[in-house]
Formats: sequence, C-alpha cells, structure tokens
Amino acid sequence: MLQNEYICSKFKDLNASDFIVKPFDTLLNDGTTTWKTPSNIALVKYWGKRDPQLPENPSISFTLNNCHTVTTMAYQKRISRETEFSFEIIFEGKTKDSFKPKIQKFFERIVDYVPFIKDYHFIISSENSFPHSSGIASSASGMSALAMCLMTIEKRLNPGMDTSYFYKKASFLARLGSGSACRSVKGDLVVWGEHEEIAGSSDLYGVPFSTKVAPVFKEYQDTILLVDKGEKQVSSTVGHELMHGHPFAKNRFQQAVDHISKIKTILATGNVQDFIALVESEALTLHAMMMTSQPYFILMKPNTLEIIQKVWNYREAHKSSICFTLDAGANVHLLYPKSEKEMVREFIEKELAMFCQQSHFIHDELGSGAIEIE
Ligand code: DP6
Repeated sequence: MLQNEYICSKFKDLNASDFIVKPFDTLLNDGTTTWKTPSNIALVKYWGKRDPQLPENPSISFTLNNCHTVTTMAYQKRISRETEFSFEIIFEGKTKDSFKPKIQKFFERIVDYVPFIKDYHFIISSENSFPHSSGIASSASGMSALAMCLMTIEKRLNPGMDTSYFYKKASFLARLGSGSACRSVKGDLVVWGEHEEIAGSSDLYGVPFSTKVAPVFKEYQDTILLVDKGEKQVSSTVGHELMHGHPFAKNRFQQAVDHISKIKTILATGNVQDFIALVESEALTLHAMMMTSQPYFILMKPNTLEIIQKVWNYREAHKSSICFTLDAGANVHLLYPKSEKEMVREFIEKELAMFCQQSHFIHDELGSGAIEIE
C-alpha cells in the first residue's frame, strides 16, 4: 500500500460523495440568510493544489476577527427548475456584474452537492469590513460567507442535519470556491489537509485545531500593513499552478508536513521563539517558491523588505516576540502576543506606517469563525 493511501484510509472522515444530496421534493418559496465570515492568515502555507481544489500539503491558519465579509443571500423559488443558474450580485450597495463569472464557476463546481441552487433565483449582497482595494484577499471570507448561506438554506430544507455535518460541508463548499476559504468557517486555529498527527484532518475541508493551545497564542494579535493595495500581478490560482513541475515542490510539500508536526508542539507549549522561526520561514519559503517558479515572479515590494528589516531590528533591540508573515502579496502581517500590544502599536505608528500605502494598516486579532446574523 502506498504511504498516501495508508494515510487516507486511516484518517479519512467524510468522502466527497457524503456531501452529495438528491434534489429536494419540497422546497421553501423564499427567504434570506446572513452570515459574517472572517478572513484568515496561514502560519503553514497552502501553495500547490490538484483537482478538484485539493491541497498538495496540509496548512494551518489563524482565523481573524476584524477582517470579515457580511453576506446576505435572498432566495426566491423559480417557476420551474432551470438548467442555468440565476443570481444577482450587489457589492457594497452597488450591482457588481464583474463578480459574476467567479460565482458562476463556484456554482458549477458545487451544484452536485447543493442541487437546489438551480431551483432558486438569488440576490447576493456582500460587504467587506476592509477596503476593497487593500490587497487583502477577500476570496477566503467571501467564499466562506456564500458557503454558510447555502448550508443554511440546505438546513432549512433538511432540518435534521447535524451540526458537525453542517460545518464540514460548509467548509467543503467554501474550499471549492477558494482553497483557503475552507479555513474561514469554524475555529480560531484551523487545519486543512490530511496530516497523520491531526485527528480528523482532511483534504476536503478544514477542521478546528482541537489539541492544546497555550494561552499566549489564544490572544495573538495581527496587524496587517497595507504595503500595496493594488491588484496582484500574478493571482494565487496561477501561483498554485506553477507548483506543478516546480523543481523544489516535493521538498516543499514535505517541509509543510514537518512544520505542521512542529507547530503542534509549539502551540501546545507556548514556545514563542520557535513559533517565530517557523512562521517567518514559512512566509519566506512561500515567496521563494514564487521566485523559483517557471516563469518566476516576485510579489514582495521594496517596502515589504524595509518592514521585515525594521521588525528584525526592533525584535533584537526590545527582546520582543513580534514576527511577520506574508500571504501571496506585498502586505505584511505582524504577529505578536497581546502583552506587547501597546509597545508594538507605537512602533508600527512611528516606524512602519511610513512604508504602507497612505500609511494604512489594520489591527486584528485571533477570532473564532463564522457568525450567523439574525
Ligand atoms: C498564499 O486560497 O487564494 O494565501 O485556492 O486558488 O483560491 P485558490 O487560492 P487561495 O491561496 C492562498 C494561498 C496563500 C497561503 C494560504 O492561505 O495558505
């Protein structure tokens, strides 16, 4: 038996087929559902995937609290079940047809799992707590919000559904919209991708990291420094694609597996020094993968490097526990314990804001996942 097959059979929880439902005989005529779902920042990064949106390695993230999307989905039964989807999108109060192809693709991917989407016309109204052009990816919070709304409709059609299935399927659907979105559903720390030391972990959906987490990490702070608010030159989807045939892919995927094992111990013991070393290495490895892809690309900007250097200097001078991580862009996430909040915020205002576009940054902290708005 191959190692992979062994891991799958030993740790598999639900299969994709467990999420398929038959079209419902009785449908509700209309209704609305609203969810507020967060963004997340990966500590061990997802970079590289295979069809259908399955990760090449496990990842773990902090769920954020302040950076979120609020989505209301209004549904109205159509006269008959149609072959085409029917939906409108309103973003921050205005019709937004440019988002339609992405939602169309999402619906196509998930229709076998939520067949009722062909029975309804939807009006999807969304807004983000963070500025639209901030360089903060809205796909994680946006796709998870849609998934939560759809699962709420499914639960109204099938009230006997159990809560664990509800959240797993919501994460499963969100993943099909955007991989990292599956980590924006439930939990303060979330693991996505099978790992033999994480019980219940799956490539299909994210699961809350349920082993011990030291108090220091439960209150971790994240300030996002907005270095570049523009559209990225290379999308994450293209970046993931370039991991196919990448000369370092195999080692990178193994490194991520090893990092999950290590971070499990770090989180349990509260070892902030080891946390810093692992998290910064992950961020730089992610960007090293981009720089060594064919074609190669660089998403960091000169100010990204200025900030990293300042953070290292500050950490040394003040014996601080601040560290940085990066997502697929130029913005910098600063992670630090709550006990350092005041000092670090002063440092950011005095020494780092000048490297941000229009001196913009967003203070955030560890959050707990999606919330239904009544
Ligand atoms: C660098 O989830 O945005 O942020 O699955 O193609 O939608 P798609 O990609 P996406 O990739 C995120 C990559 C990352 C690391 C991470 O969040 O783990």
